[in-house]
Amino acid sequence: MTTTTKVHAQWSSRMGFVLAATGSAVGLGNIWKFPYMVGDSGGAAFVLIYLACIFLIGLPILVGEWLLGRRGQKNPIYTMQDLAAKSGSSKAWVLVGLSGVLAAFLILSFYSVIGGWSLAYVKDAVIGNFAGQDGDGIGALFTGLLASPAILVFWHSLFMLITIGIVARGVTGGLEKAAKTLMPALAGLLVLLVLYGMTTGGFMQALDFMFKPDWSQLHGGIVLAALGHAFFTLSLGMGIMMAYGSYLGEDVNLLQAARTVVILDTVIALAAGLAIFPIVFANGLDLGQGPGLIFVTLPVAFGNITAGWLVGVAFFVLLTFAAITSAISLLEPVVEFVEERTPLSRLASTVVAGIAAWALGILALLSFNLLGDFLILGLNIFDLLDTLTSKFLLPLTGLGVILFVAWCLEKEDVRKELGLDIYDFSLWNLLARYLAPVGVLIVFFANL
Ligand code: TRP
Repeated sequence: MTTTTKVHAQWSSRMGFVLAATGSAVGLGNIWKFPYMVGDSGGAAFVLIYLACIFLIGLPILVGEWLLGRRGQKNPIYTMQDLAAKSGSSKAWVLVGLSGVLAAFLILSFYSVIGGWSLAYVKDAVIGNFAGQDGDGIGALFTGLLASPAILVFWHSLFMLITIGIVARGVTGGLEKAAKTLMPALAGLLVLLVLYGMTTGGFMQALDFMFKPDWSQLHGGIVLAALGHAFFTLSLGMGIMMAYGSYLGEDVNLLQAARTVVILDTVIALAAGLAIFPIVFANGLDLGQGPGLIFVTLPVAFGNITAGWLVGVAFFVLLTFAAITSAISLLEPVVEFVEERTPLSRLASTVVAGIAAWALGILALLSFNLLGDFLILGLNIFDLLDTLTSKFLLPLTGLGVILFVAWCLEKEDVRKELGLDIYDFSLWNLLARYLAPVGVLIVFFANL
């Protein structure tokens, strides 16, 4: 992605671009994180605010990142440098690119820990550990995993090794092709699990929980969490989408493409919720148990349905796959950064960046056992990494992107680039100049 030559590679088709962007967006954030956040924050109020954040703030920023990337035709840091110089704006805009790289590094460290859980569950599914288990049995299985640092380190290392291996080769071709078939398969399995949810007797309760808001539960923390997750799930605020945009031809309609990616991403997250919460209610499981939620609910389904063995194996293989495609998009910018700023080769840069994130990941996974009581600002290391990135770095970087697009670029150029008439453009302008930035700022200051 560091191509600085004149002839810049391009996506072979609009469809290829949309799929690649969806591949980065859809990951653990949709299937692991979204449901447990809904569970932790009391349900529908969070879901509705999340949807508002996705469409009113996430979508314009996604368009903004693509637009900058397509203009800059370089990696995010150089793109910000170039565009700031061209538009006569401050050099400080490069900070937007830099904070993105830092966020990528921090997210990767704990993302790989969860990717490791997913791998561990592939093993459990294969050897039939879910068969006939109820909520308690599965719960014990998960608690056992968390309690043992050595086993967690093993799976985390394996996941990181796979990610490093793929990024070191610099090949995305085969992987992208695989993603095109595997991601739809994952979506198909989710639909199957939603159908299973309908048979558990907990489905109506799950619908109520997810879509009937109890506004009395609402507080600022929930809004910040929803906003942060909107960034996380759309891969915003790190320059990833900016990098994708730099491979984009002039003919692609950014708004249309963004709408497609956002809708796909949202539908998958909601489906994950509709697959998980019926099982939670039907089995009397704990809604607010945090990061372990999918790992103690879905296996209950796999252990009790016909062909559950196969569905279980398939599910965790596909989940791992979705995690890997996203992890790659997290490692890539860090590698690029190391490669450009040090004399190291591509391979050495990948290994150095990967090992550094891996080491930080070890600290993160120890918060589930040995370092459970080690708190900084009241948070364990895992939660600290998550909070720092989702709630601070990503929204701030995203804010920088949208402010730059809306205030520093020539308005008329942007209007033409988005293919909007004057009327629709004033709507865009309202969103991009005021609503999205002010929204981010309000949520931010409300929480400080
Ligand atoms: N969006 C991915 C998910 O939902 C995670 C991810 C990949 C990400 N690349 C990113 C998050 C860049 C923020 C920025 O799992």
